Amino acid sequence: MSENESLPKHIGIIMDGNGRWAEQRSLPRIMGHREGYKTLRNILLFASDVGIKFLSVYAFSTENWKRPKDEVDGLMSLITQAAIDELRVMHQNNVRVRTAGRIHELPESLQIALERGVETTKNNSGIGFTLCINYGGRAEIVDAVKSILHDGVQPDENAISQRLYNPDLPEPDLLIRTAGEMRLSNFLLWQGAYAELVVSQKLWPDFTKEDLLDAIQQYRLRIRKLGALANG
Ligand code: IPE
Ligand code: IPE
Ligand code: MG
Repeated sequence: MSENESLPKHIGIIMDGNGRWAEQRSLPRIMGHREGYKTLRNILLFASDVGIKFLSVYAFSTENWKRPKDEVDGLMSLITQAAIDELRVMHQNNVRVRTAGRIHELPESLQIALERGVETTKNNSGIGFTLCINYGGRAEIVDAVKSILHDGVQPDENAISQRLYNPDLPEPDLLIRTAGEMRLSNFLLWQGAYAELVVSQKLWPDFTKEDLLDAIQQYRLRIRKLGALANG
């Protein structure tokens, strides 16, 4: 991985398969989410070491509220605890934490933990880590359109881009989905318009550093045309 310029600058990950990982072991689904959180910690620090500038992960979608209450409650407390426990490691590793989603609809203790993480790390210059939580690509576009109406400006692409949850982030170059599913499930619909998609068969708790390098390698072999012709 020597040619830094062909590394994706921004990687998005749809971390899928936690439930299946647990079910395969006859464990409660929340155990899969717990294991998935450990994977995330390793992958984030590894992505930072490899030289990835931005990592955005899908932790909870606007549709995930439809799951049984005990799973939703379990996920909320797991993420709250993780946000509290990991802050020191994030800060020590110069990680800048951001969130994306309708944060104000989350439990208050989680909002406070997230806000603390964002505030504490806001001047860090290392990898930009975005936790997409209560996130939906459609909701994000709706929120941007509401802001356009409120501001009374011309509704062009630039006006929408500037009103996304994190307008300062570059668009993702590479979107990885684990657990074999070939769909976006409402992740980064606007920003991912020209992202390269890589699907891994691995369930998220089983996803390794090698799997990340493999996805990056697949990305490097793609020819990105962005609507033009390959040879310019
Ligand atoms: C992804 O794992 C995590 C969340 C959606 C919160 P799943 O819980 O969707 O795992 P599967 O798809 O049931 O295996
Ligand atoms: C997408 O996974 C959401 C997250 C990974 C947080 P889902 O498991 O919710 O997506 P579907 O239901 O399979 O499309
Ligand atoms: Mg799933």
